[in-house]
Amino acid sequence: SIQNQTQTAVHPNGTRQQLPQTIIIGVRKGGTRALIEMLSLHPGIAAAESEVHFFDWEDHFEKGLQWYASQMPFSYPHQITVEKTPAYFTSSNVPERIYKMNPATRLLLILRDPTERILSDYTQVFYNRRQKHKLYQHIETMLIKNGDINMDYKALNRSLYYIHMQNWLKYFPLSHIHVVDGNMLIKDPLPEMKRVEKFLNLSAQINASNFYFNKTKGFYCLRNHGRERCLHESKGRAHPQVASPILDKLYQFFHEPNRKFFQLIGRTFDWH
Ligand code: A3P
Repeated sequence: SIQNQTQTAVHPNGTRQQLPQTIIIGVRKGGTRALIEMLSLHPGIAAAESEVHFFDWEDHFEKGLQWYASQMPFSYPHQITVEKTPAYFTSSNVPERIYKMNPATRLLLILRDPTERILSDYTQVFYNRRQKHKLYQHIETMLIKNGDINMDYKALNRSLYYIHMQNWLKYFPLSHIHVVDGNMLIKDPLPEMKRVEKFLNLSAQINASNFYFNKTKGFYCLRNHGRERCLHESKGRAHPQVASPILDKLYQFFHEPNRKFFQLIGRTFDWH
């Protein structure tokens, strides 16, 4: 199999680097970091620390699967290797590339309310640009053009989930794609993580004691073997204020794309 051809040498302790059997494909700002960190609580999971960008960056993809495997953590044979690169979901050539690596790959997709996702996306770009002393436009200027929703705004396109999902469904059956509700993962992570365990055929190991709510952060943090930690401060940032007529227009706008998405996957979400 591809897996056997590309795995790297076995280390004396019995670990080696394996191609991922599971990939978190996105969505950008959906809660991908929280998902991979929470999944890592499970002893059956070996997660790549950084975003690999193998399938979406040509200069990486050209290096081949051997290089991809070399980016993975050392793991035991019984463990599932997982990586997350949020840009995969919205990159149209990625589904075919993952399929060709291994059509049995299990995909995890974490989504949140599309309007909320845009505000989070904007906030990330805003911080990045400010850090580089670059100019940035006000969010309302990005969202609205000539009194109407600006369809050229990239962050808006990334929230049109059904368009991207169609590309994935050309290669993977729904049974290989598990959608995690990012809004629910924020509010109450345990039930979402139990569903992920089930999807990956993992034993039920993640439990209530793995999570505690941190009032200062305003989010759940993780507890593992008595060690407590929250996600980086860049996760869970305040979003810019948007005038409510514009917000309402966005919620209204996403009604139809959301409906199409729900129809595609045969499931609904409690979004605006
Ligand atoms: P905001 O910072 O806009 O609130 P990603 O890791 O894909 O970039 O997603 C970031 C988002 O994960 C954050 O967006 C935050 O809302 C969400 N998130 C979910 N669970 C979280 C947690 N336990 N701690 C911090 N952020 C969490």
